[in-house]
Formats: sequence, C-alpha cells, structure tokens
Amino acid sequence: MARTPFIAGNWKMNGTKASGMELAKGIAKGAPKEGVEVGMAPPFVYLDAVSQAIGGTGVLLGAQDVYFEKSGAFTGEISCEMLKDVGVKFCLTGHSERRHVLMEPSSLVAKKAAAVYGSGMTLVHCVGEKLEERDAGKTLVVVQSQLEELGTDMADPERLVIAYEPVWAIGTGRNATDEQAQEVHAYIRGAMATRWNRDFADRVRIQYGGSMKPDNAKGLLNQPDVDGGLIGGASLKVDSFLAIVNAAV
Ligand code: PGA
Repeated sequence: MARTPFIAGNWKMNGTKASGMELAKGIAKGAPKEGVEVGMAPPFVYLDAVSQAIGGTGVLLGAQDVYFEKSGAFTGEISCEMLKDVGVKFCLTGHSERRHVLMEPSSLVAKKAAAVYGSGMTLVHCVGEKLEERDAGKTLVVVQSQLEELGTDMADPERLVIAYEPVWAIGTGRNATDEQAQEVHAYIRGAMATRWNRDFADRVRIQYGGSMKPDNAKGLLNQPDVDGGLIGGASLKVDSFLAIVNAAV
C-alpha cells in the first residue's frame, strides 16, 4: 500500500511574525511539489498571515490545538470553524505538551479529536508513552488507550493521521531508534485494523515525532510503517525542515 508521506512542522510557541513569515515562505518555495505532503502549524496568532504567504503553494496549514465547541462563551479558545476560516487544513490533538504540561485529560482530547474530524479538517492525533511507562513495559497499553480516544465513525482514512511521539524523545535530542519506532507503528496499524478494518489501517498515515532531524530522518522514514514525521525543533529552520522533507520523497 503506497501511502504519501506527510511531514508537518509543529512550531509550538516559537518565533515572531517576521520570522514565521520568512520560515513559511522559505519552506513553501523549497518544498517538492510531489511525492510528499508538507505542512506547518504556526502559533494561532500567525495563522492568517502564514495562510496568505503559503496560499496556492500546496503546502498545508495546520493548527496546534483547538476547542471542541462551535462558538460561545469560551474565553481564549478557538473553534474549528475559525481555523477553517483562515485556511487551516489539519489540526493536532493530544500532543504530549497538551497532555502533560497543560494537563489536558483524555476525555477532553477525545472531544477535540471528534470536533476536528467532524469539521472536515484532517486530524493529526498524537499518542506516545512517557519514559517511566516505557520502562514499566506499558508502551503499547498507553498507545492503545490513546487510540481509543478516536471514534470508529471516523471513516475517511485520508483525513486521519496518527503521530507516534514517545514523550521521552520530544525536544530531548534522544530519538527512538528505527526499530523502536517501527515496533510501535506496526502495533498502531494492527490496532487500527482491529478497530476499523485492514484496508482502513493500510491507508492511515502514521507519523513519527520526537527529535527527528536531518541525520536520523532517512532511517526512521525507511521503516515500512513510518509514513512521515511531526517535527518540532528541526521545523524552525528552512534548511533542516526541508532536509527532512526531502528524506521522505
Ligand atoms: P521535537 O518535537 O522534534 O522538537 O522533538 C516533536 C513534537 O513535539 O512534535
């Protein structure tokens, strides 16, 4: 099953409007036109400007977070419709920093995931274990429970992406080995075949995230069940991000 790899940058809470525009334009200019899907998720306040900068280039605009309600008295929050209104095509849910720094419970992650998928955007749902969970042999149990945040009524595999991001690898410089990533990716695909069906599972892209860099990207992306990357630190420079994008082609 040929899946088009998807490389997405998660800028997190970094940069200025000027630096973000420069980064967005540099990536859009250098990104290959085929063989890989490329996306970037800037901070909310820069979405509209980045949207205009990359409009028509084929590079996808993403959001790092969202609130599940449609509108109303939810001070500080942003809805799916607002994201779509400024050109956002995909949205993350369940990122480890939302789970473990902002303390989002699984129940809230599940509501956000349902809202994103229901809105017609592509859902990039992040899963991954903490170091103590890996050491205790609980990696697959944790990943399974995070996958269960998704409803099986999400029927379009092209709009569902799973990002496997071991928490101990995010921003630490310590990536999962090719074998560690492949083991969990294969597990995720198998778990999806059980909950949906084999054809659905074969179409879903599973990204790896956690210290993916130009020098380790090729090995990770060569694994049969690794279909792209969710890139934090290395997405903040045009050269390093494009090197990862090119490693996926
Ligand atoms: P990192 O972040 O590439 O800086 O480890 C990945 C992520 O959090 O998506």
